[in-house]
Amino acid sequence: MLTSKLCNQDDFEKGWFREACRILREPFCYNRKVWEWCFIYQALLERGLLAPGRKGLGFGVGKEPLAALFASHGCRVAATDMETRAARAFGWAQSEEHSDALEDLNERGICEPGEFQKLVTFEHMDMNDISAEHDNKYDFTWSACAFEHLGSIEAGKRFVLNQMNCLKPGGVAVHTTEFNLSSNSDTLERNPSYVIFRQQDFDWMVKALRDAGCTVEIDYTIGTGEIESHVDLPPYKTDPHLRLKIARYTCTSIGLIITKGAETGRFDYQPDTTLYHKSFGGGIKDRLVAQGIKFKNSINRIPGLRLLAKKIYHFFIS
Ligand SMILES: C[S@@+](CC[C@H](N)C(=O)[O-])C[C@H]1O[C@@H](n2cnc3c(N)ncnc32)[C@H](O)[C@@H]1O
Repeated sequence: MLTSKLCNQDDFEKGWFREACRILREPFCYNRKVWEWCFIYQALLERGLLAPGRKGLGFGVGKEPLAALFASHGCRVAATDMETRAARAFGWAQSEEHSDALEDLNERGICEPGEFQKLVTFEHMDMNDISAEHDNKYDFTWSACAFEHLGSIEAGKRFVLNQMNCLKPGGVAVHTTEFNLSSNSDTLERNPSYVIFRQQDFDWMVKALRDAGCTVEIDYTIGTGEIESHVDLPPYKTDPHLRLKIARYTCTSIGLIITKGAETGRFDYQPDTTLYHKSFGGGIKDRLVAQGIKFKNSINRIPGLRLLAKKIYHFFIS
């Protein structure tokens, strides 16, 4: 059975990966994003969660084909994505990575259209503010390439813990994101567009989840294959694309599989996501506010700090 792990070249040679590509109607390629979808599918399939009557909740689904795939197995699926105005501010709508309607989710025709209409719903949901209405309702939750876009490492951790509330006891969460292979200390920690999680962030989440009675097995083995040794630079290619450079960090994908314990209580992790900030410009400030980040204006009271903050910010996003 799959455990939480990094994307490795070896996975691409396995039967489960090739079969998932076939079912997803995705041509075989050495691409970590395709790996993320295949990983989520396989993790849920082999745990018996893709069966008629099972209920799944997807976050930040964009136009990914997973909701249709799960419905084709008879699951009831609640697909969610961020509200359209915020998605425009972040550029998701323009890059065709945001979903705004049910029809966007079955473009490949993976699910028979009548079944799809019956089994899949779509609603806007902010991953930074998951409504308690969803508590204890689902057999599985998932997200692909989404929780790194919540504004900070802390916001991502909050999402991973708090979305567990949506699961029934024994339910399974599968989430993928990028993993920093260059450093376990230095990273993109706060950024309106994306952050990069380190091993220490996963160690922290795994401990918090296990302390609450959840089960997580994690393997941080880094592959040494020839194809994965290539680091893709912007503009990124489709193949090979197992490792990529983001800012100055080499990254790959990681998949996290969490089983909720029978006795796991409600998570309510509320980190302080306050930024001392005023000078980054209205556009970015609005985008950060849309991500739930609070502001204090004290930066302007300390001479030179405003300029320094600007420089640090531009260093990280360049
Ligand atoms: C890189 S795209 C990935 C889309 C899709 N999951 C896939 O694998 O193709 C990131 C997705 O996260 C969504 N997203 C970003 N911030 C979000 C938030 N705060 N709440 C909900 N969705 C968010 C975007 O709208 C977009 O659909």
